Amino acid sequence: AANPQWGGRFASGPAAIMEEINASVGFDHILWRQDIRGSLAHAAMLRKVGLLTEEEENDIRRGLADIARDIEEGRFDFSPALEDIHMNIESRLSERIGEAGKRLHTARSRNDQIATDFRLWVRDSIDGVLKQTEALMAGLATQALRYHDVPMPGFTHLQVAQPVTFGHHLLAYVEMLSRDASRLSDARARLNECPLGSAALAGTSFPIDRSMTAQELGFDRPTANSLDAVSDRDFALEYLSVLSMEAMHLSRLSEEIVQWASAAFNFVHLSDAFTTGSSIMPQKRNPDAAELVRAKVGRITGDLVGLLTVMKGLPLAYAKDTQEDKEPVFDATTAITLSLAAMDGMIRDLKPNKERMRELAGAGFSTATDLADWLVRELRLPFRTAHHVTGRLVSMAEQKTCDLADLSLEEMTSVEPNINASVYDVLTVDASLASRTSIGGTAPANVKKQAEAWLERLSK
Ligand code: ARG
Repeated sequence: AANPQWGGRFASGPAAIMEEINASVGFDHILWRQDIRGSLAHAAMLRKVGLLTEEEENDIRRGLADIARDIEEGRFDFSPALEDIHMNIESRLSERIGEAGKRLHTARSRNDQIATDFRLWVRDSIDGVLKQTEALMAGLATQALRYHDVPMPGFTHLQVAQPVTFGHHLLAYVEMLSRDASRLSDARARLNECPLGSAALAGTSFPIDRSMTAQELGFDRPTANSLDAVSDRDFALEYLSVLSMEAMHLSRLSEEIVQWASAAFNFVHLSDAFTTGSSIMPQKRNPDAAELVRAKVGRITGDLVGLLTVMKGLPLAYAKDTQEDKEPVFDATTAITLSLAAMDGMIRDLKPNKERMRELAGAGFSTATDLADWLVRELRLPFRTAHHVTGRLVSMAEQKTCDLADLSLEEMTSVEPNINASVYDVLTVDASLASRTSIGGTAPANVKKQAEAWLERLSK
């Protein structure tokens, strides 16, 4: 049988495979709240401008409320023959309330309807991801405060470079996440225009009030161009690109957790709650959650590239291609939501192995730069010369298989005659850390202040 919504000019119904490739209700049913919200705003506007009577609007309101309840309680039968969430809800509405239901689609198309629903959904998701991001930032800052003075080796090239504090390291991720949060807010602000009333592509001849529906739905204003409004998916792409970057940050942190939890590093202890065992090796405690978060960036970035590729080359205005916009966005949202929650749990449970971290913080001649700086400061050697002198002392210590601080003053002065005993003061891990007081440096006093400042900001 021909489609009850648009079948007027059709003699027969679609082929089974046509129905199957066309139907989106299998995934876009997720948009039901947004769809009903949009319809309520539209109906209120139609009544205000005289296109619906008060009674008709009330019938629609009541009908949609009943449908919402049915969906919520799992009593709504979504039908693929009705293609998508919009026609499923609208046809059920007409079944229930008759004529008034059939008037709801006045001055509206599914093209502006889906553009509106989807913006509302992405906006809600941005709010959710933003909240989770800030919760994780608070978790990291809390741990950073607790461990603001715990030394660990700082790496470059994954080679021991200079001592840093564990708190400083954790706060680096707070900075990354704060940029993600700021990008989410930016994306939200740009998204917040209402396509409803653009109709199919050209606008409408009915005297609608687009500012009213925009306001009703929490948008800042109506979109300015009807062709753009029904075909634009920039908001979804921007959201996916922000999520990709955020997932990349989470992936980097995950990788560090995996390394830190290995026997070779032995820097942290992951809680039982966020590790798994092996079915064959009884001793194992595997960082699976961190590994999965490390991997999720793959699918999230895939979702971004997938949608970019769908949108590429699409002529104006609406084309059914854009129905393929939803699954990547839903998928990426599920992935980032899970990742943030798992990371939050891991971080809050994370216990550093302080002795081990301190031991390695001082290994590998990690205070060699402090020695070179001392030669510049105390002996006024040019830095390049100081670098060379220090290099020779490192090589001497390496040959003796001892640390820099284990070289005698005679050995030191054999390389640079003016070195005196006060040099030993700068060769310890704690002295090195305490000296890094430049803005953004790792001095524990700095780190403490930064962590407190973040917690203060995040508590608002
Ligand atoms: N399910 C469609 C989508 O997601 C809704 C818009 C359909 N519009 C149309 N003219 N067929 O894009």
